[in-house]
Amino acid sequence: MRIVSGIQPTGNLHLGNYLGAIRNWVKMQDEVTGGGGQCLYFLADLHAISMPHDPAQLSANTREMVAALVACGIDPEKSVLFNQAQVPAHAELQWLLNGTARTGWLNRMTQWKDKAGKNREGASVALYTYPVLQAADVLLYQATHVPVGDDQKQHLELARDIAQKFNNDFADEGAPVFTLPEPTIPPEAARIMSLRDGLAKMSKSDSSDMSRINLIDDADTIMSKIRKAKTDPEVLPSDKAGLDGRAEAANLVGIYAAMAGKTVDAVLAQYGGAGFGRFKPALGELLVETLAPINARFVSLREDGEALDAVLAKGALRARELAAPTLSAAYQALGLVRF
Ligand code: TRP
Repeated sequence: MRIVSGIQPTGNLHLGNYLGAIRNWVKMQDEVTGGGGQCLYFLADLHAISMPHDPAQLSANTREMVAALVACGIDPEKSVLFNQAQVPAHAELQWLLNGTARTGWLNRMTQWKDKAGKNREGASVALYTYPVLQAADVLLYQATHVPVGDDQKQHLELARDIAQKFNNDFADEGAPVFTLPEPTIPPEAARIMSLRDGLAKMSKSDSSDMSRINLIDDADTIMSKIRKAKTDPEVLPSDKAGLDGRAEAANLVGIYAAMAGKTVDAVLAQYGGAGFGRFKPALGELLVETLAPINARFVSLREDGEALDAVLAKGALRARELAAPTLSAAYQALGLVRF
């Protein structure tokens, strides 16, 4: 089993990132490396240049994100943790795959359509070919499983289509160059919503900081954000169906369930009939209990830029070694002469 996944270095990680992706990465790291498999986790800094960005901010975000991942439990001794920019094979393989990917496939990508919006002419070429780089990210390492959120499933399907076509067109019968990766979508807690609007995803780009719990928030901030989170005047229902049409209540119960490792029904069995005056402090305390140690590690790791760079350098060295055979095989299959 080889797990490969990436995250854009956005800076300011929040609870949605933690429960949606990172906690699952840590769990897979512990299960998979225990069973002889391997996990590669990287910061998709090359993807970050597909949208307008500030170079100084990008380097700062990359280091901050490493600190956050390590603070959350990604262990650089167990997992290969690196940033794309230090492993040129990602960009190289993308170019090779550009010969196989079809423009018709890319035109159908919903993320491209959403992000380019009405201004396709003004969107970067990188935004358009973003999914091909993502395919290169996973195919380069013969990933068997790729943990992603629901919104990335289409990109993973594209990676499979590219791998399949490349193998068909260029590989010898019975000796495929690429493994077809499976997307693995964490069933629970994949969607954490804003604390101000239960229909909008929790996001670092929401203008209100009250809409999200950040990994850098201290205990008082967390308690006050939960206390002020939007709710309705009803008490909590005693089963899941009772949350229909109550997006904010459903979100808070969902967060509680995800943090406690319980089902929503189990949480409601305990809190059904309770008002938010009782439920919110319980949720706040649960969040503080889990996030306080992460916060403490993050704050101290973030200060040591040299140590963070050393983590990335070591991960990149390992990733380059792991990538080399597949990259060579791809060049060779295409008839590109290299000595
Ligand atoms: N596009 C992914 C996201 O925005 C990040 C990403 C880049 C990724 N390359 C990847 C995820 C490869 C999984 C595998 O979330």
